[in-house]
Amino acid sequence: MATEAAQAPATSPYERIGGIAVLRQITERFYDLMDQDPAYGALRAMHAPDLAPMRESLPNFLAGWAGGPRQWFDANPGKCMMSMHKPFAITRETAGQWADAMRRAIADVAPTDGEIAGALSDVLAQMATGMARD
Ligand code: HEM
Repeated sequence: MATEAAQAPATSPYERIGGIAVLRQITERFYDLMDQDPAYGALRAMHAPDLAPMRESLPNFLAGWAGGPRQWFDANPGKCMMSMHKPFAITRETAGQWADAMRRAIADVAPTDGEIAGALSDVLAQMATGMARD
């Protein structure tokens, strides 16, 4: 017999984090930090001068990846985030800067569900670390 918990509709990480509004806030804070804090200078230098396309793209990627609307995946069929970063000369230093800026951005936005916010920080840091090629 199914338990009550098993019958309850699953809440996606996307919903738990606060949906697209919170993902946009995190992304804005992340690119503001990357743009303004000299600690992320090497990471900033790898990106195009105009970060506006990234501010649009990253929350849409995160939305689909976390179980929400899949517009980024529909617009980029078959695109793998890890493979897409292979041409970039990502080092442990720049991957660490990415993970650190993202952890700060999530902490600053402080999503209501602290457990999913912490999990998001951890898994994104792992993903960034996995992109380092040195
Ligand atoms: C490990 C450190 C990382 C570095 C150094 C890095 C660097 C870059 C660079 C240089 C671009 C091209 C954009 C431009 O030229 O302005 C890019 C694109 C992008 N990155 Fe990263 N990235 C990192 C990690 C990540 C992670 C962990 C994610 C996702 C969780 C991510 C998501 C994206 C997205 C969504 C795009 C745009 C792709 C598109 O929509 O076409 N990046 N990244």
